Amino acid sequence: MPASPPLTFPRGFVWGVATAATQIEGAARRDGKGPSIWDTFAGRPGCVRHGETPEPACDHYRRFRSDFALMQRLGIRHYRLSVAWPRLFPEGRGRPNQKGIDFYCRLLDAMTAHGITPWVTMFHWDLPEALEAEGGWRVRATTDAFGAYADTLVRAFSPWVRHWITLNEIVCFTRYGHGGGDKAPGTRETEQVINQTYHHALLCHGHGVRAVREHGRRGARVGLADNPVVPIPFTETAEDIAAARAAFVAENIRVLDPIFRGRYAPAYLRAAGRDRPLVARGDLAQIALPTDFLGLNLYTGYFVRAGRKGKPERLPLPPGFPRADSPWLHLMPQALHWGPRHAHETYGATSLYVTENGAGYDEPDTCTEALPDLHRREYVRQCLAELHRAIAVGAPVRGYFLWSFMDNYEWQDGYGRRFGIVHVNFKTQRRTPKLSAAWYRAVMQSNRVV
Ligand code: NOJ
Repeated sequence: MPASPPLTFPRGFVWGVATAATQIEGAARRDGKGPSIWDTFAGRPGCVRHGETPEPACDHYRRFRSDFALMQRLGIRHYRLSVAWPRLFPEGRGRPNQKGIDFYCRLLDAMTAHGITPWVTMFHWDLPEALEAEGGWRVRATTDAFGAYADTLVRAFSPWVRHWITLNEIVCFTRYGHGGGDKAPGTRETEQVINQTYHHALLCHGHGVRAVREHGRRGARVGLADNPVVPIPFTETAEDIAAARAAFVAENIRVLDPIFRGRYAPAYLRAAGRDRPLVARGDLAQIALPTDFLGLNLYTGYFVRAGRKGKPERLPLPPGFPRADSPWLHLMPQALHWGPRHAHETYGATSLYVTENGAGYDEPDTCTEALPDLHRREYVRQCLAELHRAIAVGAPVRGYFLWSFMDNYEWQDGYGRRFGIVHVNFKTQRRTPKLSAAWYRAVMQSNRVV
């Protein structure tokens, strides 16, 4: 039998890993950092597993140099990280905290000295608590504060940074944060308020783009990291594919229509009725400022087939459907095929990055040698095979970031549900690369799924 052809990725494909400030830094009150809504939320009984807080997380604030040395040993050349807004602006606005700025300058310096290219997310859920006290995402003033934050950040870090991501997963800090979900600030509010939080988040995305255009270095690039819902056609027939595509648009118009089409979709406005967001003149132009790429955080999806008159029909999952230990993470590698294809085929996105993908498992708290995390390796491998298939039919995917470099603070799941390819013992802060890290190193090095 001839050898099966290797799954080689396009030349110049970007391979990396991702993390976020709250999940790894620790030092929640060090050097003038203000509290974020996640510090507050975690301190409230019953909100986070075992009441665990983002302190000390991976103590990356003090250990970043050795973490970058480890990244370098593992062959990592691109790293997506986020900046903590309350480290730069403890009160959310006003005078920046120089110590916070200096910290990230040292960090970016060390990163680049280790040959690692930064991809910086401006906002990964850690809204300054001081702004929450004034209304947070519900009020428009927060978008002005974000605008000033984005200006400061791009000006300060442009010597090192060319790749910018404005916001991470808008739905998580708007709907899941304010609609009775499990994310900070953990409130339950009206549909109108939720729609307004979305609108303000979208405006901040626009501010982020503007800030990069105004203060970014030559060749600077910017985009959003979205986590679209991915309907997967039950069969790859024209009918089911069309149904899945229609479902993709219906699920994601709230974020993708304003950004790609500069409007709120009539279907969304009709459905929202009197709960629609208040929109000021010029808002939609700001939201739709042209970006350079769209980031996709892809973990899972759902199955759809063409029902009566071709209408999308969602198929219920049977109880035994495979999933990771994170209960929401049903294992559907095809999401990596259909997510990029739908984004390209419906919204015409011409440059895509998978800004996150991975799997969370309840692995032991301690280990003495590389954990044989074959479950994670297997899932990521299948995801990459599906991604390869999408690229082969024309999906313009330029890179992939594995979530996550190391085990970290998994929000409401605390320190359970480990996603890292490097194990972290949170008592000793010892790092031990898992088997998946050695495998991923070979993938990055050879530019193929091995
Ligand atoms: C998406 C989020 O961006 C990240 O912060 C989180 O840890 C992973 N998903 C896994 O749940």
